[in-house]
Amino acid sequence: MSADELVLKRLSTQQLDALIDAQNEIFADYIIPIRSSREFFAEFMRSVGGKLEDIIVALSGDEIVGYVNPVVDGTEAWIGGLGVVPRMRNQGVGARLMEAAERYAEEEGAEEVLLEVIEGNLAAEKLYERLGYIPRVAYLSAEGNATQFAGFGQPPRRSHLENILALHERSYAGTCWQRRKRCALEESARTCEIYRNDEGFVLLRRVAGTGFIPFLGVDPEHGRKGVGTCLAKFAVNRLWELGTFKIAVYNIDDNDANRRMLDLFDFAVTLKQTEMRKRL
Ligand SMILES: CC(C)(COP(=O)(O)OP(=O)(O)OC[C@H]1O[C@@H](n2cnc3c(N)ncnc32)[C@H](O)[C@@H]1OP(=O)(O)O)[C@@H](O)C(=O)NCCC(=O)NCCS
Repeated sequence: MSADELVLKRLSTQQLDALIDAQNEIFADYIIPIRSSREFFAEFMRSVGGKLEDIIVALSGDEIVGYVNPVVDGTEAWIGGLGVVPRMRNQGVGARLMEAAERYAEEEGAEEVLLEVIEGNLAAEKLYERLGYIPRVAYLSAEGNATQFAGFGQPPRRSHLENILALHERSYAGTCWQRRKRCALEESARTCEIYRNDEGFVLLRRVAGTGFIPFLGVDPEHGRKGVGTCLAKFAVNRLWELGTFKIAVYNIDDNDANRRMLDLFDFAVTLKQTEMRKRL
């Protein structure tokens, strides 16, 4: 079947397993290996505020050969995933899916669409540029070792989701969808230890031998006073206490302060993503 004959439709709930299979085929040769599953995808959807019924699939007969996952929140929309199975690539399917997602977003009231692309994903970069997406800022992922620290000042206190919502809103206001939306914080709060002091907060989690610090925020009013460094030392030390070896951080704004912080902790950048946006 040629690309023009494919039918684009909303995902039905009975197609969820087929979508997961298609994702595993699509992302098998991806820059970072992604292995999807029902649980993985459900957690992802909760964390970004996505709805399964908003996903658009490209069908060849009954078979899913591509999908796009638009998420709308007020006047902004975000593309939570786009993919086409290898044998159907470079025939315009990706562009058709993106155009359908933009139409849907516009109907829902969005005025702008955002997305992120991993640096070096040339096909996706080319497609988005051709559709009129403009690069805006970059986000970094990095990895380092858990280390024992002493002398990080007064340790932050164990806290709860309700007590960090305002701090999160202030400290993450200008950053990426996957960190600034409240649903992202709520999802992480289900599985993470939460700590805060008067000026900032940090979330951390151990999964097998690996530690994650999904959130570390400082109220902008208290920026540049070493609060972030103290919270980071606390988190790295806590993950060391929990018995992790490696620590991963994702989606950090690529700016001088964060680069200095990564250097200080000897964290190496593993991935850079560019946020692109288009006004509808
Ligand atoms: C990105 C992806 C969705 C594109 O789907 P597609 O159906 O091939 O998209 P289209 O055919 O509409 O457009 C692809 C464009 O990439 C270009 N392209 C393909 N491979 C390329 C490469 N290695 N270098 C540069 N450009 C490339 C094609 O020439 C085409 O551009 P053109 O029409 O201007 O010539 C598909 O490659 C894919 O599923 N990749 C794996 C998952 C992924 O990366 N998703 C996006 C995450 S941000």
